[in-house]
Amino acid sequence: MSDTPEQQTDASPAPSRDRGRTVHGEPANAGHRVLAPDDAEVEAYLEQALHAPPPARVEEAPEGPDTVVILDFGSQFAQLIARRVRELNVYSELLPHDTPWAEIERRNPKAIILSGGPSSVYDANAPRADAALWAGRIPVLGICYGLQLMAHELGGEVVPSAKREYGPASVHVTEADGLFAGLDRDQPVWMSHGDAILRPPEGFRPTAQTDSTPYAGLFDASRNLYGIQFHPEVAHTPRGRDILRNFVVEIAGARPTWTPASFAETTVADVRARVGDGHVICALSGGVDSAVAATLVHRAIGDQLTCIYVDHGLMRKRESELLRATFEENLGMRLLMVDARDRFLRRLAGVEDPEEKRRIIGDEFIRVFEEEAGKLGQIDFLVQGTLYPDVIESKTAETKAAAKIKTHHNVGGLPPDLRFSLIEPLRYLFKDEVRQVGAELGLPEAMVLRQPFPGPGLAIRIIGEVTAERLDTLREADWIVIDEIKGAGLYRSLWQSFAILTPVRSVGVMGDGRTYANVVAIRAVTSDDGMTADWARLPYEVLAKISSRIVNEVPGVNRVVYDISSKPPATIEWE
Ligand code: XMP
Repeated sequence: MSDTPEQQTDASPAPSRDRGRTVHGEPANAGHRVLAPDDAEVEAYLEQALHAPPPARVEEAPEGPDTVVILDFGSQFAQLIARRVRELNVYSELLPHDTPWAEIERRNPKAIILSGGPSSVYDANAPRADAALWAGRIPVLGICYGLQLMAHELGGEVVPSAKREYGPASVHVTEADGLFAGLDRDQPVWMSHGDAILRPPEGFRPTAQTDSTPYAGLFDASRNLYGIQFHPEVAHTPRGRDILRNFVVEIAGARPTWTPASFAETTVADVRARVGDGHVICALSGGVDSAVAATLVHRAIGDQLTCIYVDHGLMRKRESELLRATFEENLGMRLLMVDARDRFLRRLAGVEDPEEKRRIIGDEFIRVFEEEAGKLGQIDFLVQGTLYPDVIESKTAETKAAAKIKTHHNVGGLPPDLRFSLIEPLRYLFKDEVRQVGAELGLPEAMVLRQPFPGPGLAIRIIGEVTAERLDTLREADWIVIDEIKGAGLYRSLWQSFAILTPVRSVGVMGDGRTYANVVAIRAVTSDDGMTADWARLPYEVLAKISSRIVNEVPGVNRVVYDISSKPPATIEWE
């Protein structure tokens, strides 16, 4: 990794020490909505609780695996390229486009991929790369803008094309070896570009063409330079994966050894070496990131790790039991379960405003955690479940090509007086890799494959005041939703599925009597990342079963409705 902790601090000024800021740098208690919620939120609380530092981060890439460097020219697909390469079991890193050659070389990559990007090579501030890239020392594949830049820098001619190509296209392969080995001559691909290559640089040969360009693919064998105008990383290019494999494994010779098992093994060894006989704490949230991070660290150092779980009483049914069974009983971890349910309920009494609820929950979490951590004596390290997208987004923020990226203050922006260093065992992983490592470590499916759950828990799914009774009602209804969704085999295909307790009561009949009872709403959505979502077209039979079970089994509920709003304009959560 390139940044030293000092550089990181320079790049992202430490935020003010206001309580309750989120990992996205916004006030946690001002109703922000986060992307991969569960653990992120808890970590934001934690940093506040622990008066956290610019962390002593270990900035070395994991030892060993063959690496592919991806230079980011601002494409929305840049991360996707990194993930696709990792799916080939080759470790990949996403770096800013202007990373100096020495930095690239230090990583000893087997191959370099240049991402696409929104710019034209003629833009005044068009993102460029270190010219040493073109010398042929390491194989380079330029994708879309990456190819145009390569052509432009090496003396070819790039022009704004008369027809902007966006969407599906068909390429005809004219050079069947190399990148396109093993593929049919005609391939459906995804195009997205304005400029086009009019004349390739000297030494380059065309390898593929479309109706609108004779240079949909180019290569220069003597310099190990390859380029394609289309995007192999997106699902709309069905054989894109094979093209990437041809480049990474066949042409560049990277060995596909990056697996969940090898990652776990290396990480455990690294953590052990780093911690020595130090003491480590970790907050478990119930989410998958903290669970996997804690398990890795526990494997490395056993009882030198203490996990703290703050039970705020806003969890789903059996959540705390599952946590205890998994971590304490099965994995034998030292687990401190703090029953803070009454404290949270007392502070939430009478509160109806959603943002006020979030603020109170964040604040109370901090208090509880501070109290508990304070009882443990000397602590040297804090485990955090920071993931790779947080790391790269922080590094490339604003200054770099990526047009619009969030800054995350859990990376590089922590307050200066932390008493301990951070261990971030997942900082090289994407979310799906975290799940794979979790499975590899033997964590139960119920823990590894869970849907996201918001930090403030059921409190923001009870519209209006949160009381013990209303929590019980919602927990029962929620349990039935999940039970039926799982029973129908739908759980994993949904981003989230849950119940909401509305403040509405309606009239009903039960037996001979008239009832006036709660309305429960069901929300089930599909989504890739939580930023947008569509309501799930659940089968009627599943909805019918959920509805009849809820009214029959949950006291105080006589009506169930299904939320058919997409995001936007609605959000996923109701509060
Ligand atoms: P919305 O409701 O904004 O949710 O469409 C997007 C994603 O964020 C989760 N979410 C939260 N997560 N604290 C969290 O940790 C929160 O306050 C919060 N609000 C929403 C939500 O569950 C969904 O996955």
